[in-house]
Amino acid sequence: MYQLRGVIKQYQRGRERIDALAGIDLTIGDGDRLVIQGPTGGGKSTLLQMLGGLDRPTAGSVELDGTDLAKLPEARLTKVRAESIGFVFQSFNLIPTLTAQENVETALVPLGLKVAERRERAAEALKSVGLGERLTHLPSEMSGGQQQRVAIARALVKNPKVLLADEPTGNLDESMRDEIMDVLETQWKEHGLTFIMVTHDSAIARKAPRLATIRKGQIKITENEKAK
Ligand SMILES: Nc1ncnc2c1ncn2[C@@H]1O[C@H](COP(=O)(O)OP(=O)(O)OP(=O)(O)O)[C@@H](O)[C@H]1O
Ligand SMILES: [Mg+2]
Repeated sequence: MYQLRGVIKQYQRGRERIDALAGIDLTIGDGDRLVIQGPTGGGKSTLLQMLGGLDRPTAGSVELDGTDLAKLPEARLTKVRAESIGFVFQSFNLIPTLTAQENVETALVPLGLKVAERRERAAEALKSVGLGERLTHLPSEMSGGQQQRVAIARALVKNPKVLLADEPTGNLDESMRDEIMDVLETQWKEHGLTFIMVTHDSAIARKAPRLATIRKGQIKITENEKAK
């Protein structure tokens, strides 16, 4: 479970101070799905970075299962990220010279698994996102939707507790968007993940059982009972 209290993130640019997050209090239960929307520059990606331990807040606490990520030494934070948190971004961030399977395997390297087990788990993860026939393809040999599926497999192959997605369908056309949303939805249900997703897609936001709107670094939660 996530428990955020008074999370503030300020960036200093020359003499200007930017309040990217201006005091966020938020609780996210295990297995919950939270959709985040809001105007550009509002602080959505910054919040995701705090949740993922990619950056630290200027003030406040970001507890994941009782451990404050804001105060964790770098080595332990890296371990939490490697074991417990999967990321999917708008850009697929695949390594162009590695096959689909090798790209997925990279997520297992920090976990110290044997090569054979890494291969097998990467193949399984690719199968589960419908890419069982594409293991040896390079990113350049796949469509955008397929590349994003590889990125999803890479995020989930380590069986993380949390999946964070920052506009995962932002670079895709409409048909692929639905396809990727279906893949994410299925994975969320099957793995019992805590799933937090930033989207600009108002259709997705409308259907969300729990919607966070972030504007000027502040958060507002709307519960949609009908969508539950
Ligand atoms: N590394 C940084 N240095 C300085 N300012 C930053 C940095 N990262 C973000 N900001 C600023 O913090 C604010 C919030 O940015 P953030 O990327 O979280 O917005 P966002 O809601 O994700 O927007 P978008 O919808 O465009 O992705 C913006 O004003 C942005 O310019
Ligand atoms: Mg953003």
